[in-house]
Amino acid sequence: MNPVIRGPVYAVVPAAGVGERMKAGIPKQYLTLAGKTLAEHTLGRLLSFSPIDSVIVSVSSQDPWWPTLPVASHRRVSTVAGGKTRAESVRNGVAQALMDGGEEAWVLVHDMARPLVRLSDIQALMEQCDEQGAILALPVVDTIKQSGDDLHIDSTVDRERIWRALTPQLFPAARLYEALSADLDGVTDEASAIERQGGRPRLVAGQSDNIKITVPEDLPLARFYLARQFETGEQ
Ligand code: CTP
Ligand code: MG
Repeated sequence: MNPVIRGPVYAVVPAAGVGERMKAGIPKQYLTLAGKTLAEHTLGRLLSFSPIDSVIVSVSSQDPWWPTLPVASHRRVSTVAGGKTRAESVRNGVAQALMDGGEEAWVLVHDMARPLVRLSDIQALMEQCDEQGAILALPVVDTIKQSGDDLHIDSTVDRERIWRALTPQLFPAARLYEALSADLDGVTDEASAIERQGGRPRLVAGQSDNIKITVPEDLPLARFYLARQFETGEQ
């Protein structure tokens, strides 16, 4: 295992969103994909990765679905209160990881809404991480345009250096907690909080099937990717 990761590793899973864009009537993590909820897919993958000591899930106090899942009472799963924003939900989970694992703890933050993350990607993230932390990301494939205030193009951005940030994102718990204790306005992932403090997390190329289920058409896409992962044995 990577020598920079000395302490225990906790997966922190924000799951306190309502899934507004999914328009399903229930939070999207409780929708079913191939007979299991998205939450069970995501947690099943994290729990089967042995370097992860335990999983801390941020759950809304208004959530009646979570306690009904068998995985909610798994001995390596605990819960903390969700926050008003994703960043707050993550901060609550990181605080718990620090309390349980001490100053040497690391946190692997992963959206509950990304049920298709591959163990090989988590492995690569842990291997390639350095003291600054690391995130899974995808190089962009489209040509990228910068617009002005109107809908006209100002310039074309060199895409060689443009990446889409995914999760998991892996950091020393103490460093991330400090970063998430600053102003969180505009913080949409953990790396951006770390960047604000001057950190430069490592990018690790992930797989394009690690999608975040966000809108209704993502569910059939996820079904397709899951079947393909099953066929090729790459889960
Ligand atoms: N999340 C959270 N706490 C919040 C908001 C979001 O823990 N206050 C979690 C979601 O449950 C999800 C992850 O952060 O697992 C990514 O967020 P997103 O895809 O935006 O999910 P939702 O906020 O649920 O969806 P929407 O924005 O469409 O309402
Ligand atoms: Mg959201």
